[in-house]
Amino acid sequence: MAANDALLFTPGPLTTSASVKAALVRDLGSRDSRFIEVVADVRRRLAVLAASRPEEYTTVIVQGAGTMGVEAMIGTFVPRGGRLLVAVNGAYGRRIAHIAKVLGIDVVQVEGPEDRPTDVVAIEAALDADPEITNLAVVHCETTTGILNPIARLGEVAHRAGRSFLVDAMSSFGGVPLDASASHVDALVSSSNKCIEGVPGFSFCIARKAALGECRGRARSVALDLHAQWEELERSGQFRFTPPVQVLLAFRQALDELDGEGGIEGRMARYRSNHSVLVDGMRGLGFREYLDPVHQGWIITTFRYPSDPAFRFEEFYSRLAREGLVIYPGKLTHADCFRIGNIGRLFPDDLRRLVSAIRDTASDMGFQPGAA
Ligand SMILES: Cc1ncc(COP(=O)(O)O)c(C=O)c1O
Repeated sequence: MAANDALLFTPGPLTTSASVKAALVRDLGSRDSRFIEVVADVRRRLAVLAASRPEEYTTVIVQGAGTMGVEAMIGTFVPRGGRLLVAVNGAYGRRIAHIAKVLGIDVVQVEGPEDRPTDVVAIEAALDADPEITNLAVVHCETTTGILNPIARLGEVAHRAGRSFLVDAMSSFGGVPLDASASHVDALVSSSNKCIEGVPGFSFCIARKAALGECRGRARSVALDLHAQWEELERSGQFRFTPPVQVLLAFRQALDELDGEGGIEGRMARYRSNHSVLVDGMRGLGFREYLDPVHQGWIITTFRYPSDPAFRFEEFYSRLAREGLVIYPGKLTHADCFRIGNIGRLFPDDLRRLVSAIRDTASDMGFQPGAA
């Protein structure tokens, strides 16, 4: 981190290392063999991170934000005339359903409470009740709250019912172990600026080759056609449209740093330490979490607004931001909350610094942190 950079306690873009930022200060043509080698290396390494049988998977990189990757996955994998079941327990599940509707896809939503993981029994019942459902889509870490949904059990249910299984693993991939092979995942999406700790610019879909192979001509978009993108990456090693060259250079450096930290297990250990320092510190000040700790993942934590009328989120946020500490607003339907992310190039001492700044800010603003 450069001296004047903020610390980002958000779900992304995230704080990145100086060496990741330095890796992108370079010009390279999109047809340069050195760049083509980077793309191949990144694609291969992501499949290895995602699946215990990586030879069955391929990685397709999609230019743009994470939502473009989600839209590409939904638009490419749901067959024409298919029906998509979406498990919703937060804003990102709701976004998948919205994307599908805009694409003209028939959607069934199973809505659960935002403070509970997806109900596997309800999903199984919905699949059993409707043989027209072709695909199930779920969010792994629902970043609205930080809850972790039971991917392996949901994949088992989809597999038994013979439906394709699509996962938005945007905020969890690289920070929470997930075996796409064992969980029967047909496709999952994440992006360059989440737990791999690169800079924003692309998302990636790790897809079962056999499933993606059936998707020729299905996409509802030219630019977001994962099958066509895959074919070109396989044929020439290149992108169909301008690639985010520098972002990929930085991402390869980020993958090296993930390896250096002990892979996903090592990274998860740091994020879990960040999370416990945060939660212990915030509880010590009197703040209350939104989720029951048994459901709380270590990616991002949601705290209830203090009930003291002297608490005003905008002012709280701005005072912390002036000190270079950036937190995140809430996104919940039924409760006033704010969020603090534990991911990115952050260490337990950074979380200690944040908690201490929050204590001073509460005192300066004159509020008690307890919620009703
Ligand atoms: C679970 C999940 N899905 C999708 C997205 C959307 O990603 P983006 O904001 O890069 O479009 C996010 C962003 O945080 C997310 O957490």
